[in-house]
Amino acid sequence: MNTDTPGWSPNLAMGHPEIDEQHRMLIHMIRELSARMDAGEHRQGVLDALQGLLAYAATHFEDEEEMMEEAEWEGLDRHEGLHAEFLWKAGDLEAQLKDDYAQASRELLEYLLTWLVAHIATEDRAFFSRARP
Ligand SMILES: [Fe+2]
Ligand SMILES: [Fe+2]
Repeated sequence: MNTDTPGWSPNLAMGHPEIDEQHRMLIHMIRELSARMDAGEHRQGVLDALQGLLAYAATHFEDEEEMMEEAEWEGLDRHEGLHAEFLWKAGDLEAQLKDDYAQASRELLEYLLTWLVAHIATEDRAFFSRARP
């Protein structure tokens, strides 16, 4: 990942401390995973980091979806679909790593990070900045 790689920035803040912390952590975990791959860390270390990321992401998505459900937000179904897409892509990367570590795609990791940052900035924001009755 290079200097153009998106990271956390204050404009990603939702104003919800717990969610903001989770987003910060998710971005950090993806960048950390990338650094491990770049450093040529052995496969198991990279797999562990990816599985940690998958578990953390799943918990974060559940937390968000629960909040959306409680708020009876009309965008819930669509948003759930987007979360599933992320987990599916991350699962793809996991399969690649298991299959052939040397050939596993860095592009997929870049994609995950870009996806996440864009998701926070637009899709999550749509919920957290919604007009409340
Ligand atoms: Fe989120
Ligand atoms: Fe989300």
